[in-house]
Amino acid sequence: MKTTSTVAETRAQVATYRKAGETVGLVTTMGALHEGHLTLMRAARADHDRVIATIFVNPTQFGQMADLATYPSDDKRDLEMLGDEGVDCVFLPKAPTIYPAGDETIVETTRMANMLHGKVRPGHFRGVTTVVARLFNIVQPDAAFFGEKDYQQLQIIKKMVRDLQMPLTIEGVPTVRESDGLAMSSRNVRLGAEDRAAATVLYQSLMAADAAAAKGTTVEEMWSVIADMITAEPRATLKAVDIVEAESLDPVSGPLKGPTAIMISAEFGGVLLIDQHVVTPGD
Ligand code: PAF
Repeated sequence: MKTTSTVAETRAQVATYRKAGETVGLVTTMGALHEGHLTLMRAARADHDRVIATIFVNPTQFGQMADLATYPSDDKRDLEMLGDEGVDCVFLPKAPTIYPAGDETIVETTRMANMLHGKVRPGHFRGVTTVVARLFNIVQPDAAFFGEKDYQQLQIIKKMVRDLQMPLTIEGVPTVRESDGLAMSSRNVRLGAEDRAAATVLYQSLMAADAAAAKGTTVEEMWSVIADMITAEPRATLKAVDIVEAESLDPVSGPLKGPTAIMISAEFGGVLLIDQHVVTPGD
């Protein structure tokens, strides 16, 4: 497995693939890899000759420096995992490579970045689109793979690529779950045993909403099913239940009309977890 740290090295590596007529799938990460990331690598591998991963803990998407300072990082372990997975090249830039001194260009989806999770984390999605746009420009892949778990992020990246006519496709990959349904996340390691057990209520509440949708329900009823289940769990502090049109993320109400995304977040022992599920009426 090749590792690169500069733009020139990365582009030279991609050029060798292109010269051989090979296609390139990209998975961007902030490291602290888990099975969910490896699933993205496998999805990229399934459709592409070469898989490139990036590891970069992006400072501009962290509101609080404290969050950035405590973000888990273990490059050695991450590289071993990527090597075992057969990834072809890993780009591990330092911050000044991505954000050269004096830079001033940002990329923002002005509506979608500032709603839902974006309201509680001002600037977060602007940081994500800015770094992802820069990584896309450096690697210039045919496709990039993102987890559906970060549902708003995925829709925002799709919108950015569409609006800026970026020449690649964005593939959403279903959330990978532990055997009890908890969505895999780098944050799960921070949960104590009791909070870890309690956190399964997130998935259970989404499944209860799914069952209600299958029978025919309203947005308001689904909201109550989820909120009631999460608030009944003493270790959970419910942060948000957002039920929106699956692509535009516009608010919806009344009987379910089409694909509808449920995005939930709750804290367990101070660790914020998110989860999501898309329901389709009568499915
Ligand atoms: O989802 C993530 O890990 C990050 O937001 C991303 C897309 C790598 C950008 O830093």
